[in-house]
Amino acid sequence: MLTRIITETLPIHNPDLFAWAVRQAVAKLQSGELVALPTETVYGLAANALDAKAVARIFSVKGRPTHNPIIVHIASLAMAQTCVRQWPSLADKLAAAFWPGPLTLVLPRSPIIPDVVTAGGPTVGVRWPSHPFIQAVIRDCGFPLAAPSANPANQISPTLAEHVQRSLDGQIPLIIDGGSTEVGLESTVLDLSAPKPCLLRPGMVPVTALELVIGDVVETRVQILDEDQGKAALRSPGLLRRHYAPKARLVIWQWRDTPDLAAQIARHGLTSRQIHVIAHTRIPQGTEWGGIHLLPREPEGFARGLYAALHHCDEAGAHLIVVEALPFEPHWQAILDRLQRAAAE
Ligand code: TXA
Ligand code: MG
Repeated sequence: MLTRIITETLPIHNPDLFAWAVRQAVAKLQSGELVALPTETVYGLAANALDAKAVARIFSVKGRPTHNPIIVHIASLAMAQTCVRQWPSLADKLAAAFWPGPLTLVLPRSPIIPDVVTAGGPTVGVRWPSHPFIQAVIRDCGFPLAAPSANPANQISPTLAEHVQRSLDGQIPLIIDGGSTEVGLESTVLDLSAPKPCLLRPGMVPVTALELVIGDVVETRVQILDEDQGKAALRSPGLLRRHYAPKARLVIWQWRDTPDLAAQIARHGLTSRQIHVIAHTRIPQGTEWGGIHLLPREPEGFARGLYAALHHCDEAGAHLIVVEALPFEPHWQAILDRLQRAAAE
C-alpha cells in the first residue's frame, strides 16, 4: 500500500499558468517524482525515462505488470536518436510524416534506457507528442519522459484531468489539467526492429497512412475483426485480452429500430434503466435508458469522445453498455480494436 500524498492540480489555459505549470512539472520530474500531464492522445503518467527508480514508481502506482514496456517521449529527432541503437531510414520517413503526433516507433534500445522502461527487452518505443505542454516540459527537463496512460492498469485511459484525479488522487503529487485531449485514443505502435514493419497497436494514424509513407505492406500482430462484424468475432475467446475496459459489461450491437433494441435487451434480463447506449446514427427513442451518448459519425470525432462516454457510464453505475456497431473501415480500426478488447470477457 502506497502512502497517500497531496495531489495538486494545475491549469494551463493562459500563458502565465502554462509557464508556471511547466516549471512545477519540471521541478517534480527532475527530483524523480511523477507528474500526470496531457498529451494529444490521452493523459500520460510521466517520469524521467533515464531514472530507473522514478520509472519503477510508475509501475507501482498503476499496478502495471513489470513485463509491459513503457513508451519514451522525446521532443526532437536528436533526442529520439539518443534512445535507440539504430535509426533506419524508415524511421526518418515516418518521423517526417507523423511527428510530432500519435505514432510510436519501436526500435533497438540504446544503453541509456534503463531495463525497467523496456521490461528488460531489447527494444524501446519512442514517440514525439504534439501537445505543446509535454513538449515544453521535455525541452526544459533535457531528458526524455517515460509515460504510460495515467490510469490503473487495464482500465480506460484518461482523456480529461478529472479522469486522472478520480483514479490517482493521493498517489501522485501533480496533475496538469489541459482539458479534453484532442485525439482521444492511444498512439499507433509500429515495430521497426523486425525485418518488416509490424503494427502492434492500431491508433488514429491508420495503417493505410503508414503504408503510403513507407511504400510497403505493414504486417500486423493485433487481432482484427472478421468481415461480418458478427458477435462471434467480437467475442472470439482466447484471442482477445480484456483491456481498455469499463467496469460495466460492454456489448457491440446492431439494431434495426428501437423495438429491436428493446428485444435484444430483454434477452439479457435487464431493464433499460440499467443500460447506457453509445450510438452514432440516431438516438433510440421510446425507452428510458440509464443514459444515452450520441457520438459523431466520423472516426476522429467518435475517438475523441469515446473514453469520456465510457468513463461516464461507469460513474453512473451502468450495468451494461450497448455500443452501436461501427463501419468496418481502416479509419475505424483503432476504435474497433479498443471496443473489441473492452467487450472481451
Ligand atoms: O498515446 C500513447 O501512446 C499514450 C500517451 C501517454 O503517449 N501512452 C500509452 O502508453 O498508451 P501505454 O503504456 O498505456 O501503452 C503503451 C503500449 C503498450 O501496449 C506497450 O506494450 C507498448 O506500447 N510498448 C511500449 N514499448 C514497447 C516496446 N519496446 N515493444 C513493444 N511494445 C511496446
Ligand atoms: Mg495504457
